[in-house]
Amino acid sequence: MTGYKVAIVGATGMVGREYIKILEQRKFPMNDVKLLASERSTGKKVTVNGQALVVKETSPEAFKGTEIVFLAAEADISRQFSPIAAAAGAVVVDDSSAFRLDPKVPLVVPEVNAEDIKGHKGIVAGPNCSTIQLVVALHPLHRVNPIKRVIVATYQSVSGWGAAAMDELRLQARKVLDGEAFTPRIFPYQIAFNVLPEIDKAMANDYTKEEWKMSEETHKIMHASEIAFSATCVRVPVFVGHSEAVWIEFSRPMSPAEARDILSRAPGIRIVDDIAASQYPHPLAAAGRDETYVGRIREDTSLPNGLVMWIVSDNVRKGSALNGVQIAEAIIKRNWLKPGG
Ligand SMILES: NC(=O)c1ccc[n+]([C@@H]2O[C@H](COP(=O)([O-])OP(=O)(O)OC[C@H]3O[C@@H](n4cnc5c(N)ncnc54)[C@H](OP(=O)(O)O)[C@@H]3O)[C@@H](O)[C@H]2O)c1
Repeated sequence: MTGYKVAIVGATGMVGREYIKILEQRKFPMNDVKLLASERSTGKKVTVNGQALVVKETSPEAFKGTEIVFLAAEADISRQFSPIAAAAGAVVVDDSSAFRLDPKVPLVVPEVNAEDIKGHKGIVAGPNCSTIQLVVALHPLHRVNPIKRVIVATYQSVSGWGAAAMDELRLQARKVLDGEAFTPRIFPYQIAFNVLPEIDKAMANDYTKEEWKMSEETHKIMHASEIAFSATCVRVPVFVGHSEAVWIEFSRPMSPAEARDILSRAPGIRIVDDIAASQYPHPLAAAGRDETYVGRIREDTSLPNGLVMWIVSDNVRKGSALNGVQIAEAIIKRNWLKPGG
């Protein structure tokens, strides 16, 4: 293998495992790969590019000589290790929420704001999964006809919580069908055959932190703090793939045909939009795919300059690991590995 010295923190988790798959699929140039996780996983073997690698405990020494770190663990782990890895000379692509809103850290979706990576100080953040697919679809439209207001309702799969939530849905679904009792562990109520309008903690204004993150991150990535924004984020019993119903108010009228035309030429988007023929995006069709799917594009009949659309993407791929690998590819392509660009 020729290329870069890479480390994956959280290599045993859902996003970490997807990182390994995507790095292999895209033939990412790596000549050394360190797999890091908690001490619980020390000694486990994971195959990368046909080689069985031993998972090690994450420690400051592990980053010595590493050039690119993909961090796929919780925010407190990132707060602890990302600055250490950056100080050791690596660029950290961080999937956690730790640094997303730090003004010194670029928050990047390469289709939208790859240029923001330039001048990084060793850490580049990837957004929340529900934000990524939204801005991939909003940005091309905003460039043509500035967006004034966005209302979004999300339908987020359990994999957005992590691997343990998928196990919980699987187990609950079996128990419900078999008429057996169980106690919910991850979510406050049963998630199988149910929907829960609560993702992340409640905030003082009764929005949830997930809803707030979508708003703040969208403003930061699109450089458009003027867009009025309101989200309702809902967990649904789907394994992989987040869906979003989005109401967009533009500065001027935009027809569904014009939006379809713009989005069909935008990077990372696939249009599936023929309701009469039951053609629209849905999570089962988007799972395992790289694109952000857009459909159900139609006039918002409640206001003059409005459109409604339905956006679906694989939250573990484009919503996290794929976006992280694309950030690293953008860094390499532009020779921005070292801080300051
Ligand atoms: N799931 C998504 O769709 C999604 C989308 C965007 C961003 N993210 C973000 O990506 C990150 C990972 O999410 P996930 O869904 O992959 O979670 P996950 O499946 O629960 O995996 C968590 C990973 O973190 C590791 N870890 C735990 N404690 C650690 C420690 N003290 N030191 C080093 N590693 C430690 C775990 O290792 P062990 O196996 O050893 O415990 C595991 O590899 C989170 O910050 C999440 O917010 C997730």
